[in-house]
Amino acid sequence: MTQVQENLSVVILAAGRGTRMKSQLPKVLQPLADKPLLGHVLDLCDRLGAAQDLIVYGHGGEQVRAVFPDAALGWAEQAEQLGTGHAVQQAMPQIADGQRVLILCGDVPLLTAETVQHLLDQTPADAVGVLTVNMEDPAGYGRIVRDDKCAVTGIVEQKDATESERAIGEINSGVFVVPAAFLRRALESLKPQNAQGEYYLTDIVGLAVAESIPVYGIVGSDPDEIIGINDRVQLAEAERIFQRRVVETLMRNGVRVADPARVDIRGNVTCGNDVFLDINTVLIGDVSIGEGTVISPNCVITDTSIGANTNILPNCVIEHSSIGDECNIGPFARLRPATELHNKTKVGNFVEIKKSQIAEGSKVNHLTYVGDATVGKKVNIGAGTITCNYDGANKHQTVIGDGAFIGSGVELVAPVEIGQGATIGAGSTISKPAPDDQLTLERARQRSIEGWERPVKKT
Ligand code: UD1
Ligand code: CA
Repeated sequence: MTQVQENLSVVILAAGRGTRMKSQLPKVLQPLADKPLLGHVLDLCDRLGAAQDLIVYGHGGEQVRAVFPDAALGWAEQAEQLGTGHAVQQAMPQIADGQRVLILCGDVPLLTAETVQHLLDQTPADAVGVLTVNMEDPAGYGRIVRDDKCAVTGIVEQKDATESERAIGEINSGVFVVPAAFLRRALESLKPQNAQGEYYLTDIVGLAVAESIPVYGIVGSDPDEIIGINDRVQLAEAERIFQRRVVETLMRNGVRVADPARVDIRGNVTCGNDVFLDINTVLIGDVSIGEGTVISPNCVITDTSIGANTNILPNCVIEHSSIGDECNIGPFARLRPATELHNKTKVGNFVEIKKSQIAEGSKVNHLTYVGDATVGKKVNIGAGTITCNYDGANKHQTVIGDGAFIGSGVELVAPVEIGQGATIGAGSTISKPAPDDQLTLERARQRSIEGWERPVKKT
């Protein structure tokens, strides 16, 4: 399926208003797993490898085009939404007669490339193919009408159907493959004589039968795939189906998941064997997790790579970072962009790290802020330490040498450098270089006042 299918052109219908979404955002830009609905359909197109992909846009058109700047995409404007047949017609000037035209909908995001390829393979190049599905509740969909030899003779929309036609459970998914020359001719002869006063794409089936062009109704096995999104209830249902699929793939690849319904994957996630995802894990963007790593409950991890056998404890928020092997992070740690934690580092509770590298074996265990810092190996940063990296105008670097020990409650006023093996006394405010291997402290001398008395409350 990765080869280019030179004779195939795809038309994606995406001009509908999506009124039922009640949203400022055009329907095809509504997100499913953080990606616009139309983006899912374009992913499918990538896998099919057609000679051209044409999007029919209308409502919110410029906004839609801006989200998909790929120069290889073709666009056709449908200024007025006069029906699905009229929509396809807008793309026809860009399609040559010898092509097979595959018609998809921009609001049907769960369709798989395998199902579409099956339709293409089962339909001869000179015939019309339509993907159908048997539905327990076919309400709202166009019904597939077959004759007594089981040949497809037409498609009837719900609003135009007789009572006996409404009883048909086989429905039109909206996915068609049609020879271009016939399609062009058929679209030109459509008439909006129906309950909705629209140019129905579905009427091309009756026209094909009249011209003795064979029509193949290819029955798909999974009704979930052809779910169209019209409102936010359907959007949430599709999200659950999508999530279930992604998590199942992870589990089949060796990931243990505490509850498949309580993990959300919004991007591309790769996991080694024996990764464990506990409940309420949300993985966003490009996330990779090495073998044997545990993600505890309530972690949100965005665009991050994590090594093997690392323990992410509950309630961590991690973004655009890289974490090595055998680390211990959290609970309640926040790793902000450009944090690099090398192997065997420990980051404890209420620690925030930003744009810093922390070398192997170092520990930042409690209530600390490390920003714009380079921390050597086997460094221990005590509780409540702050890198004062911002002077109100610019950010400055803190460099801490291998084996340094930073006592609790230290302020490191950047730019500042702490030598290798240096010890910084608790409570110090360090603004000058601290030499290697010495104790540096900055602290007023402690004194006690003899005979001092506590004030008493006046009555
Ligand atoms: C359509 C089919 C129906 C099928 C169903 C499957 C027709 C007449 N009916 O009905 O048989 O069971 O899809 O989901 O084709 N669009 C445009 N321009 C328009 C009208 C629609 O681009 O002028 C786009 C919409 O954005 C959408 C798609 O075409 O992506 C389908 O349109 P919609 O109005 O949702 O058709 P349905 O009534 O669902
Ligand atoms: Ca629809």
